[in-house]
Amino acid sequence: MREGFAVSDRRGGAAHASKGQYGLDAPVVIRNLIGIGLLLAGGSIAAFLFRGWVWLIVGAWLGLVSVFCLAEAVYMIWSSKRGKAIVVRKMLDMLQLRGDEHVLDVGCGRGFVLIAAARRLTGGRATGIDIWNSRDQSGNHPDIPLRNAERENVFDRITIVHADARQMPFEAHTFDVVVSSLALHNIPHEAERKRAIEEIARVLKPGGKVALLDFRYADAYARALTEAGFKEVAVSRRHLQMFPPVRIVTGLRS
Ligand SMILES: C[S@@+](CC[C@H](N)C(=O)[O-])C[C@H]1O[C@@H](n2cnc3c(N)ncnc32)[C@H](O)[C@@H]1O
Repeated sequence: MREGFAVSDRRGGAAHASKGQYGLDAPVVIRNLIGIGLLLAGGSIAAFLFRGWVWLIVGAWLGLVSVFCLAEAVYMIWSSKRGKAIVVRKMLDMLQLRGDEHVLDVGCGRGFVLIAAARRLTGGRATGIDIWNSRDQSGNHPDIPLRNAERENVFDRITIVHADARQMPFEAHTFDVVVSSLALHNIPHEAERKRAIEEIARVLKPGGKVALLDFRYADAYARALTEAGFKEVAVSRRHLQMFPPVRIVTGLRS
């Protein structure tokens, strides 16, 4: 595994646009972890009220799993609120944006990456596409990235389009850079995710850059990019500032 592109560009400072409201990733998973954690904690306390070794072991075991679930939920909340900013900054640093590019964010959700990229642009534009699934991000709606862009003073550089990653309504060779964060794994079936990567290849200009951040399927994305004719395809190490830990797949369109 190796890191893609050179890491030298620090323009744009923090990736996290602090005035925006970016919600939680995978809110259903977090809710379930908290629910199960509290339930098990209750079970653990109840077990400790009984006498005997068996109940002691049951109580300890339930307590341990409960702590594990609650800790995972806290890690996921921290990841959405803080850790993601660190990793997204690294991803954007890798891309070494000049400032005049047309950037596409696939699965932009509430606009966290889209707006972080737009903040690094001077003459360029950032376009975000999404289907705004509320199970994938809390309060997901196409108005939210626009509202966040207004708060972050990048409204004039942003375009929002309702579109599926597998069928993008753009001409071939429209974008200089394509980014995507935590979006592609939501597409069921490998063939469909590959279809999304073929779409990314189609809408990227020759010489354009791609960076895909995700906690699953990084090797499959790398394979699909290579098959789609990308050069210098690289998969980063796992970044533990996000939970589940993510990897970044980068490549250059030939
Ligand atoms: C966990 S959210 C991440 C949002 C944003 N990229 C970020 O990092 O904050 C995943 C996003 O992918 C979107 N998504 C899922 N399947 C998609 C598809 N087939 N096409 C476009 N977007 C999709 C969801 O609606 C959701 O907004």
